[in-house]
Amino acid sequence: MSTQTWDAALYDRHHGFVASYGQDLLELLAALPGERVLDLGCGTGDHVALLRSRRVVADGVDASAEMIARAEEKYPDFPYFAVADARKLGVEGRYDAVFSNAVLHWVPQPWRVASSVAKALKPGGRFVAEFGGSGNVGTIIGAAQDVRVEAGLPAAKTPWYYPSVAQYARVVERAGLEVRSAWLFDRPTVLDGTAGLENWVRMFAGFLLEGVDEAVFFRKLEERVHEVLWRNGAWWADYRRLRIVAVK
Ligand SMILES: C[S@@+](CC[C@H](N)C(=O)[O-])C[C@H]1O[C@@H](n2cnc3c(N)ncnc32)[C@H](O)[C@@H]1O
Repeated sequence: MSTQTWDAALYDRHHGFVASYGQDLLELLAALPGERVLDLGCGTGDHVALLRSRRVVADGVDASAEMIARAEEKYPDFPYFAVADARKLGVEGRYDAVFSNAVLHWVPQPWRVASSVAKALKPGGRFVAEFGGSGNVGTIIGAAQDVRVEAGLPAAKTPWYYPSVAQYARVVERAGLEVRSAWLFDRPTVLDGTAGLENWVRMFAGFLLEGVDEAVFFRKLEERVHEVLWRNGAWWADYRRLRIVAVK
């Protein structure tokens, strides 16, 4: 697992856009009432709640005890959340679909995730996922690494897995799933408030702050990316997402 820790309250306060974009992915999932669906990396539980409201039999698992605790607090009537690692779900043939939004770039050993998902699906079950694809947040990270190097620090090691369509399709096929569609697309994403870029780094890329003078780091980072990522009074993250639909 990555060493990323999840501040569930900060996540809900400033980064609700992640779950909001996931609602669009839920339309692609098109789960029917009565279907059994696993939300893999469910975070603070919004998609499970939405699916349950549509009478889908949804469960949510997440590797972070903090995120699961927050999901349970937000949805006390739903005893459907559990802490589990995507690479070892330990269930067989239980789900009509596995759904995952904004998770898989956080998990090293993608082949273990794919094989764990394949096991969890019933024959004919589908895997519908979206996560960071190759080139995701390239402008932010490139500039942040330059700022570190200028300050005499080593470039930080990034924890993410951002595959191309071909790379990820291979991983999923090796796990025994048939890829029905996969695509990579830009999704410039507006961040919350004038501190949006700083909040984004603190939430998702805290490893960039190791050893830096934070005030200087953020000032220089903002100067560097201002021309490209500041538009109409807001910061925009240069997200690039990979979507995949595969069937067992
Ligand atoms: C950006 S959040 C997305 C949460 C939720 N899917 C949403 O759309 O709001 C990423 C989530 O992936 C979870 N995660 C990271 N590594 C994981 C792993 N190995 N197994 C399960 N969940 C993991 C994190 O704990 C975090 O809740």
